[in-house]
Amino acid sequence: MNTFEYRDGSLFAEGVALSAIAQRFGTPTYVYSRAHIEAQYRAYADALVGMPHLVCFAVKANSNIGVLNVLARLGAGFDIVSSGELERVLAAGGEPSRIVFSGVGKSRDDMRRALEVGVHCFNVESGVELERLQKVAAEMDVKAPVSLRVNPDVDAGTHPYISTGLKENKFGIDIEQAEAVYARAAELPNLEVIGVDCHIGSQLTTLEPFLDALDRLLLLVDKLATRGIVIKHLDLGGGLGVQYRDEQPPQIGDYIAAVRKRLEGRDLALVFEPGRFIVANGGVLLTQVEYLKHTEHKDFAIIDAAMNDLIRPALYQAWMEVSPVQPREGEARSYDLVGPICETGDFLAKDRQLVLKEGDLLAVRSAGAYGFVMSSNYNTRGRAAEVMVDGEQAFEVRRRETLDELFAGESRLPE
Ligand code: LLP
Repeated sequence: MNTFEYRDGSLFAEGVALSAIAQRFGTPTYVYSRAHIEAQYRAYADALVGMPHLVCFAVKANSNIGVLNVLARLGAGFDIVSSGELERVLAAGGEPSRIVFSGVGKSRDDMRRALEVGVHCFNVESGVELERLQKVAAEMDVKAPVSLRVNPDVDAGTHPYISTGLKENKFGIDIEQAEAVYARAAELPNLEVIGVDCHIGSQLTTLEPFLDALDRLLLLVDKLATRGIVIKHLDLGGGLGVQYRDEQPPQIGDYIAAVRKRLEGRDLALVFEPGRFIVANGGVLLTQVEYLKHTEHKDFAIIDAAMNDLIRPALYQAWMEVSPVQPREGEARSYDLVGPICETGDFLAKDRQLVLKEGDLLAVRSAGAYGFVMSSNYNTRGRAAEVMVDGEQAFEVRRRETLDELFAGESRLPE
Protein backbone atom coordinates (compact mmCIF):
# COMPACT_ATOMS: atom_id res chain seq x y z
CA MET A 1 0.00 0.00 0.00
CA ASN A 2 1.32 3.43 -0.87
CA THR A 3 -0.33 6.41 0.74
CA PHE A 4 2.28 8.87 -0.59
CA GLU A 5 1.34 9.56 -4.21
CA TYR A 6 1.48 12.31 -6.81
CA ARG A 7 -1.71 14.15 -7.70
CA ASP A 8 -1.69 16.86 -10.33
CA GLY A 9 2.09 17.05 -10.22
CA SER A 10 2.38 17.36 -6.46
CA LEU A 11 3.24 14.76 -3.82
CA PHE A 12 0.52 14.04 -1.28
CA ALA A 13 0.31 12.19 2.02
CA GLU A 14 -3.18 10.69 1.79
CA GLY A 15 -5.41 13.72 1.10
CA VAL A 16 -2.94 16.42 2.14
CA ALA A 17 -0.33 18.05 -0.12
CA LEU A 18 3.16 17.87 1.37
CA SER A 19 3.69 21.45 0.20
CA ALA A 20 0.80 22.52 2.47
CA ILE A 21 2.39 20.68 5.39
CA ALA A 22 5.71 22.42 4.78
CA GLN A 23 3.96 25.77 4.69
CA ARG A 24 2.06 25.14 7.89
CA PHE A 25 4.69 23.36 10.00
CA GLY A 26 8.00 24.26 8.38
CA THR A 27 10.86 21.88 7.52
CA PRO A 28 12.46 19.50 8.26
CA THR A 29 9.34 17.60 9.29
CA TYR A 30 8.51 13.93 9.51
CA VAL A 31 5.12 13.17 7.98
CA TYR A 32 3.29 9.93 8.74
CA SER A 33 0.23 8.34 7.17
CA ARG A 34 -2.29 6.90 9.59
CA ALA A 35 -3.88 4.79 6.85
CA HIS A 36 -0.55 3.15 5.98
CA ILE A 37 0.28 2.32 9.59
CA GLU A 38 -3.17 0.87 10.17
CA ALA A 39 -3.11 -1.19 6.98
CA GLN A 40 0.28 -2.68 7.81
CA TYR A 41 -0.76 -3.61 11.34
CA ARG A 42 -3.97 -5.16 10.04
CA ALA A 43 -2.08 -7.17 7.43
CA TYR A 44 -0.16 -8.87 10.25
CA ALA A 45 -3.15 -9.31 12.54
CA ASP A 46 -5.46 -10.55 9.76
CA ALA A 47 -2.96 -13.21 8.67
CA LEU A 48 -3.07 -14.55 12.23
CA VAL A 49 -6.85 -14.72 12.59
CA GLY A 50 -8.04 -18.03 14.02
CA MET A 51 -5.06 -18.63 16.25
CA PRO A 52 -4.05 -17.04 19.55
CA HIS A 53 -1.62 -14.25 18.79
CA LEU A 54 -0.19 -10.92 19.79
CA VAL A 55 1.29 -8.43 17.32
CA CYS A 56 3.62 -6.26 19.40
CA PHE A 57 4.80 -3.15 17.55
CA ALA A 58 8.54 -2.63 18.18
CA VAL A 59 8.39 0.80 19.78
CA LYS A 60 12.04 1.51 18.98
CA ALA A 61 11.14 1.89 15.30
CA ASN A 62 8.91 4.89 15.97
CA SER A 63 7.95 5.89 19.49
CA ASN A 64 5.90 9.01 18.78
CA ILE A 65 2.86 8.95 21.05
CA GLY A 66 0.56 9.77 18.13
CA VAL A 67 1.86 6.73 16.24
CA LEU A 68 1.60 4.49 19.30
CA ASN A 69 -1.92 5.76 19.93
CA VAL A 70 -3.07 4.86 16.40
CA LEU A 71 -1.83 1.31 17.01
CA ALA A 72 -3.18 1.08 20.56
CA ARG A 73 -6.65 1.92 19.22
CA LEU A 74 -6.42 -1.14 16.97
CA GLY A 75 -5.63 -3.32 19.97
CA ALA A 76 -1.95 -3.72 19.16
CA GLY A 77 0.59 -5.01 21.62
CA PHE A 78 3.99 -3.37 22.04
CA ASP A 79 7.58 -4.58 22.24
CA ILE A 80 9.59 -2.28 24.49
CA VAL A 81 13.25 -2.10 25.51
CA SER A 82 13.29 0.48 28.30
CA SER A 83 11.07 1.96 30.98
CA GLY A 84 11.04 5.11 28.85
CA GLU A 85 9.32 3.18 26.07
CA LEU A 86 7.01 1.61 28.67
CA GLU A 87 5.84 5.05 29.84
CA ARG A 88 5.31 6.15 26.24
CA VAL A 89 3.09 3.14 25.54
CA LEU A 90 1.05 3.82 28.67
CA ALA A 91 0.74 7.52 27.77
CA ALA A 92 -0.45 6.49 24.31
CA GLY A 93 -3.21 4.29 25.76
CA GLY A 94 -1.47 0.93 25.24
CA GLU A 95 -2.53 -2.06 27.30
CA PRO A 96 0.18 -3.29 29.77
CA SER A 97 -0.98 -6.89 29.46
CA ARG A 98 -0.04 -6.75 25.74
CA ILE A 99 3.53 -5.56 26.29
CA VAL A 100 6.63 -7.71 25.88
CA PHE A 101 9.83 -6.35 27.39
CA SER A 102 12.96 -7.07 25.32
CA GLY A 103 16.55 -5.86 25.65
CA VAL A 104 19.90 -7.06 27.00
CA GLY A 105 20.31 -4.48 29.75
CA LYS A 106 17.15 -4.20 31.84
CA SER A 107 17.84 -2.31 35.07
CA ARG A 108 16.23 -3.18 38.42
CA ASP A 109 14.06 -0.07 38.09
CA ASP A 110 12.96 -1.17 34.61
CA MET A 111 11.95 -4.55 36.03
CA ARG A 112 10.10 -3.08 39.00
CA ARG A 113 8.06 -0.73 36.88
CA ALA A 114 7.17 -3.44 34.37
CA LEU A 115 6.09 -5.80 37.17
CA GLU A 116 4.08 -3.02 38.78
CA VAL A 117 2.04 -2.37 35.63
CA GLY A 118 1.83 -6.08 34.75
CA VAL A 119 3.49 -6.64 31.37
CA HIS A 120 2.67 -9.79 29.41
CA CYS A 121 6.21 -11.15 29.36
CA PHE A 122 9.89 -10.40 29.98
CA ASN A 123 12.09 -11.56 27.13
CA VAL A 124 15.13 -12.52 29.18
CA GLU A 125 18.47 -12.42 27.39
CA SER A 126 20.89 -14.07 29.86
CA GLY A 127 21.24 -16.26 32.94
CA VAL A 128 22.34 -13.25 35.01
CA GLU A 129 19.25 -11.28 33.98
CA LEU A 130 17.10 -14.24 35.06
CA GLU A 131 18.62 -14.19 38.56
CA ARG A 132 18.10 -10.43 38.83
CA LEU A 133 14.48 -10.70 37.74
CA GLN A 134 13.86 -13.44 40.31
CA LYS A 135 15.22 -11.16 43.07
CA VAL A 136 13.20 -8.13 42.04
CA ALA A 137 10.00 -10.20 41.69
CA ALA A 138 10.61 -11.82 45.11
CA GLU A 139 11.04 -8.39 46.74
CA MET A 140 7.69 -7.38 45.28
CA ASP A 141 6.15 -10.74 46.12
CA VAL A 142 4.92 -11.32 42.56
CA LYS A 143 5.60 -13.80 39.79
CA ALA A 144 7.33 -12.55 36.64
CA PRO A 145 6.22 -14.12 33.34
CA VAL A 146 9.31 -14.99 31.29
CA SER A 147 10.38 -16.12 27.90
CA LEU A 148 14.04 -16.72 27.11
CA ARG A 149 15.43 -15.07 24.04
CA VAL A 150 17.47 -17.76 22.39
CA ASN A 151 20.08 -17.13 19.80
CA PRO A 152 19.46 -19.77 17.12
CA ASP A 153 22.71 -19.06 15.27
CA VAL A 154 21.24 -18.39 11.85
CA ASP A 155 22.57 -15.87 9.40
CA ALA A 156 19.87 -13.35 8.60
CA GLY A 157 21.79 -12.21 5.52
CA THR A 158 21.30 -8.55 6.34
CA HIS A 159 23.60 -5.63 7.22
CA PRO A 160 26.04 -6.68 9.99
CA TYR A 161 24.89 -3.84 12.29
CA ILE A 162 21.29 -5.06 12.21
CA SER A 163 21.93 -8.81 12.24
CA THR A 164 21.35 -10.19 15.70
CA GLY A 165 20.94 -13.98 15.55
CA LEU A 166 24.53 -15.12 15.13
CA LYS A 167 26.62 -16.63 17.93
CA GLU A 168 28.98 -13.68 18.00
CA ASN A 169 26.18 -11.15 18.64
CA LYS A 170 25.49 -9.89 22.16
CA PHE A 171 21.86 -10.92 21.98
CA GLY A 172 20.05 -13.85 23.53
CA ILE A 173 21.13 -17.15 25.02
CA ASP A 174 23.06 -19.61 22.90
CA ILE A 175 20.55 -22.24 21.82
CA GLU A 176 22.91 -24.98 23.02
CA GLN A 177 22.71 -23.58 26.54
CA ALA A 178 19.03 -22.73 26.48
CA GLU A 179 17.80 -26.01 28.01
CA ALA A 180 19.95 -25.58 31.08
CA VAL A 181 18.88 -21.96 31.53
CA TYR A 182 15.22 -22.99 31.18
CA ALA A 183 15.75 -25.66 33.83
CA ARG A 184 17.11 -22.98 36.15
CA ALA A 185 14.20 -20.62 35.33
CA ALA A 186 11.69 -23.36 36.15
CA GLU A 187 13.29 -23.77 39.58
CA LEU A 188 13.05 -20.10 40.52
CA PRO A 189 9.93 -19.51 42.63
CA ASN A 190 9.07 -16.01 41.42
CA LEU A 191 9.33 -16.72 37.73
CA GLU A 192 6.77 -18.34 35.48
CA VAL A 193 8.15 -19.71 32.23
CA ILE A 194 5.64 -19.01 29.45
CA GLY A 195 7.50 -18.62 26.18
CA VAL A 196 10.45 -18.93 23.85
CA ASP A 197 11.61 -15.94 21.88
CA CYS A 198 14.06 -15.01 19.15
CA HIS A 199 14.83 -12.06 16.90
CA ILE A 200 17.46 -12.76 14.29
CA GLY A 201 17.85 -9.41 12.57
CA SER A 202 16.17 -6.62 10.73
CA GLN A 203 15.29 -5.88 7.10
CA LEU A 204 15.26 -9.58 6.10
CA THR A 205 14.32 -10.11 2.49
CA THR A 206 13.96 -13.90 2.42
CA LEU A 207 11.91 -16.31 4.51
CA GLU A 208 14.50 -19.06 4.97
CA PRO A 209 16.31 -17.56 7.98
CA PHE A 210 12.98 -17.04 9.80
CA LEU A 211 11.91 -20.62 9.11
CA ASP A 212 15.31 -22.07 10.04
CA ALA A 213 15.13 -20.22 13.33
CA LEU A 214 11.56 -21.44 13.88
CA ASP A 215 12.58 -25.07 13.29
CA ARG A 216 15.36 -24.73 15.84
CA LEU A 217 12.98 -23.18 18.36
CA LEU A 218 10.48 -26.00 17.89
CA LEU A 219 13.17 -28.60 18.59
CA LEU A 220 13.90 -26.75 21.81
CA VAL A 221 10.19 -26.61 22.73
CA ASP A 222 10.00 -30.41 22.34
CA LYS A 223 13.09 -30.98 24.45
CA LEU A 224 11.70 -28.73 27.16
CA ALA A 225 8.41 -30.65 27.11
CA THR A 226 10.25 -33.87 27.99
CA ARG A 227 11.53 -32.05 31.09
CA GLY A 228 8.01 -30.97 32.00
CA ILE A 229 8.56 -27.35 30.96
CA VAL A 230 5.51 -26.30 29.00
CA ILE A 231 5.89 -23.44 26.52
CA LYS A 232 2.73 -21.48 25.79
CA HIS A 233 3.93 -19.03 23.19
CA LEU A 234 6.57 -18.59 20.53
CA ASP A 235 7.79 -15.06 19.91
CA LEU A 236 9.45 -14.81 16.50
CA GLY A 237 10.55 -11.21 16.87
CA GLY A 238 10.37 -8.66 14.08
CA GLY A 239 12.65 -8.30 11.11
CA LEU A 240 10.48 -8.60 8.02
CA GLY A 241 11.99 -6.31 5.38
CA VAL A 242 10.34 -3.56 3.38
CA GLN A 243 11.04 -2.08 -0.02
CA TYR A 244 13.38 0.92 0.07
CA ARG A 245 14.58 0.58 -3.51
CA ASP A 246 14.30 -2.67 -5.44
CA GLU A 247 14.25 -5.25 -2.64
CA GLN A 248 11.53 -7.87 -2.94
CA PRO A 249 10.72 -8.81 0.64
CA PRO A 250 8.37 -11.74 1.22
CA GLN A 251 4.65 -11.04 1.48
CA ILE A 252 3.39 -11.04 5.04
CA GLY A 253 0.67 -13.57 4.17
CA ASP A 254 3.26 -16.04 2.84
CA TYR A 255 5.43 -15.63 5.91
CA ILE A 256 2.61 -16.21 8.37
CA ALA A 257 1.19 -19.10 6.32
CA ALA A 258 4.57 -20.87 6.39
CA VAL A 259 4.80 -20.36 10.15
CA ARG A 260 1.26 -21.57 10.76
CA LYS A 261 1.93 -24.70 8.72
CA ARG A 262 4.87 -25.62 10.93
CA LEU A 263 2.78 -25.09 14.06
CA GLU A 264 -0.09 -27.35 12.98
CA GLY A 265 -1.17 -29.73 15.74
CA ARG A 266 0.65 -27.75 18.41
CA ASP A 267 -0.92 -25.76 21.18
CA LEU A 268 1.20 -22.64 20.81
CA ALA A 269 0.28 -18.97 20.66
CA LEU A 270 2.31 -16.69 18.38
CA VAL A 271 3.89 -13.37 19.21
CA PHE A 272 5.56 -11.06 16.67
CA GLU A 273 7.50 -7.84 17.16
CA PRO A 274 7.40 -6.01 13.83
CA GLY A 275 8.73 -2.46 13.70
CA ARG A 276 9.95 -1.49 10.26
CA PHE A 277 7.18 -3.39 8.45
CA ILE A 278 4.50 -1.35 10.21
CA VAL A 279 5.91 2.16 9.85
CA ALA A 280 8.85 2.47 7.42
CA ASN A 281 6.85 3.22 4.29
CA GLY A 282 4.28 5.12 6.31
CA GLY A 283 6.59 8.08 6.75
CA VAL A 284 8.66 10.64 4.84
CA LEU A 285 11.10 13.27 5.93
CA LEU A 286 10.11 16.54 4.33
CA THR A 287 13.02 18.90 3.70
CA GLN A 288 13.81 22.04 1.73
CA VAL A 289 16.75 22.90 -0.51
CA GLU A 290 18.75 25.73 1.09
CA TYR A 291 21.47 26.09 -1.56
CA LEU A 292 22.62 24.52 -4.78
CA LYS A 293 26.39 24.40 -4.83
CA HIS A 294 28.01 23.49 -8.11
CA THR A 295 31.70 22.62 -7.96
CA GLU A 296 34.06 21.35 -10.61
CA HIS A 297 33.59 17.78 -9.37
CA LYS A 298 30.14 17.58 -7.88
CA ASP A 299 26.74 19.14 -7.67
CA PHE A 300 25.55 19.47 -4.10
CA ALA A 301 22.04 20.21 -2.93
CA ILE A 302 22.43 21.50 0.61
CA ILE A 303 19.16 20.73 2.36
CA ASP A 304 17.79 21.69 5.77
CA ALA A 305 17.65 18.08 7.02
CA ALA A 306 20.86 16.44 8.14
CA MET A 307 22.39 13.31 9.60
CA ASN A 308 21.12 14.37 13.03
CA ASP A 309 17.57 14.11 11.65
CA LEU A 310 18.01 10.86 9.74
CA ILE A 311 21.17 8.88 10.39
CA ARG A 312 20.45 5.72 8.38
CA PRO A 313 22.38 6.75 5.23
CA ALA A 314 25.46 7.80 7.24
CA LEU A 315 25.37 4.87 9.66
CA TYR A 316 24.39 1.95 7.43
CA GLN A 317 24.96 3.36 3.97
CA ALA A 318 21.21 2.93 3.68
CA TRP A 319 19.67 3.95 0.35
CA MET A 320 16.59 6.11 0.80
CA GLU A 321 14.49 7.23 -2.15
CA VAL A 322 14.24 11.00 -2.58
CA SER A 323 11.26 12.51 -4.40
CA PRO A 324 10.70 16.12 -5.40
CA VAL A 325 7.44 17.36 -3.89
CA GLN A 326 6.67 19.35 -7.04
CA PRO A 327 8.79 17.92 -9.86
CA ARG A 328 10.04 20.45 -12.42
CA GLU A 329 10.72 20.18 -16.12
CA GLY A 330 14.31 20.66 -17.18
CA GLU A 331 17.66 19.01 -17.43
CA ALA A 332 18.47 16.77 -14.48
CA ARG A 333 21.83 16.86 -12.75
CA SER A 334 23.38 14.30 -10.49
CA TYR A 335 23.16 15.68 -6.95
CA ASP A 336 24.56 14.67 -3.61
CA LEU A 337 21.98 15.68 -1.01
CA VAL A 338 23.88 16.90 2.02
CA GLY A 339 22.93 18.57 5.29
CA PRO A 340 24.38 21.61 7.09
CA ILE A 341 26.37 19.52 9.61
CA CYS A 342 30.16 19.78 9.65
CA GLU A 343 30.95 16.19 8.69
CA THR A 344 31.69 14.62 5.35
CA GLY A 345 29.40 11.76 6.40
CA ASP A 346 26.46 14.16 6.56
CA PHE A 347 24.51 13.10 3.51
CA LEU A 348 21.03 11.72 2.98
CA ALA A 349 21.53 10.54 -0.60
CA LYS A 350 24.20 10.51 -3.29
CA ASP A 351 24.19 10.76 -7.07
CA ARG A 352 20.48 11.41 -7.56
CA GLN A 353 19.23 12.67 -10.91
CA LEU A 354 17.09 15.68 -10.06
CA VAL A 355 15.97 19.00 -11.47
CA LEU A 356 16.26 21.41 -8.56
CA LYS A 357 16.00 25.07 -7.60
CA GLU A 358 16.74 26.74 -4.30
CA GLY A 359 13.67 26.50 -2.05
CA ASP A 360 12.38 23.26 -3.59
CA LEU A 361 10.83 20.70 -1.27
CA LEU A 362 12.00 17.10 -1.20
CA ALA A 363 10.57 14.02 0.49
CA VAL A 364 12.98 11.38 1.77
CA ARG A 365 10.85 8.25 1.50
CA SER A 366 10.52 5.20 3.78
CA ALA A 367 11.58 7.30 6.75
CA GLY A 368 8.83 6.22 9.15
CA ALA A 369 11.02 3.61 10.87
CA TYR A 370 14.30 4.36 12.64
CA GLY A 371 14.06 7.97 11.51
CA PHE A 372 13.04 10.50 14.14
CA VAL A 373 13.77 8.03 16.97
CA MET A 374 17.47 7.96 16.05
CA SER A 375 17.77 11.72 15.67
CA SER A 376 20.05 13.81 17.85
CA ASN A 377 20.90 17.41 18.63
CA TYR A 378 24.36 17.34 17.04
CA ASN A 379 25.51 20.82 15.99
CA THR A 380 22.83 22.15 18.37
CA ARG A 381 20.07 21.48 15.93
CA GLY A 382 16.58 21.13 17.39
CA ARG A 383 14.83 17.96 16.39
CA ALA A 384 12.28 18.00 13.57
CA ALA A 385 8.52 18.30 13.95
CA GLU A 386 6.34 15.22 13.40
CA VAL A 387 2.97 15.37 11.67
CA MET A 388 0.34 12.64 11.31
CA VAL A 389 -1.92 12.79 8.29
CA ASP A 390 -5.36 11.25 8.57
CA GLY A 391 -7.36 11.58 5.37
CA GLU A 392 -7.73 15.30 4.65
CA GLN A 393 -6.34 16.37 8.01
CA ALA A 394 -2.85 16.88 9.38
CA PHE A 395 -2.04 16.86 13.09
CA GLU A 396 1.22 17.98 14.65
CA VAL A 397 2.04 15.02 16.89
CA ARG A 398 5.33 16.53 18.02
CA ARG A 399 6.24 20.15 17.66
CA ARG A 400 9.65 21.26 16.52
CA GLU A 401 12.16 21.46 19.35
CA THR A 402 13.07 25.01 20.33
CA LEU A 403 16.55 26.25 21.20
CA ASP A 404 15.43 26.99 24.77
CA GLU A 405 14.44 23.36 25.16
CA LEU A 406 17.82 22.28 23.85
CA PHE A 407 19.78 23.78 26.69
CA ALA A 408 17.12 23.89 29.37
CA GLY A 409 18.99 21.38 31.55
CA GLU A 410 22.42 23.04 31.29
CA SER A 411 24.02 25.70 33.45
CA ARG A 412 27.08 27.92 33.81
CA LEU A 413 29.54 27.31 36.62
CA PRO A 414 28.94 29.38 39.79
CA GLU A 415 30.63 32.86 39.67
N1 LLP B 1 12.45 -7.13 18.33
C1 LLP B 1 13.70 -6.96 18.76
C2 LLP B 1 14.17 -7.69 19.93
C3 LLP B 1 14.57 -6.09 18.05
O1 LLP B 1 15.81 -5.94 18.47
C4 LLP B 1 14.09 -5.38 16.92
C5 LLP B 1 14.95 -4.46 16.19
C6 LLP B 1 12.74 -5.58 16.55
C7 LLP B 1 11.95 -6.48 17.26
C8 LLP B 1 12.14 -4.89 15.36
O2 LLP B 1 12.74 -5.24 14.17
P1 LLP B 1 12.13 -4.75 12.75
O3 LLP B 1 10.81 -5.43 12.57
O4 LLP B 1 11.98 -3.29 12.82
O5 LLP B 1 13.13 -5.18 11.77
N2 LLP B 1 18.23 1.07 13.32
C9 LLP B 1 18.28 -0.02 12.34
C10 LLP B 1 17.42 -1.19 12.76
C11 LLP B 1 17.74 -1.74 14.12
C12 LLP B 1 16.84 -2.87 14.54
C13 LLP B 1 17.04 -3.23 15.96
N3 LLP B 1 16.16 -4.21 16.49
C14 LLP B 1 17.91 0.54 10.98
O6 LLP B 1 17.66 1.75 10.86
O7 LLP B 1 17.90 -0.18 9.99
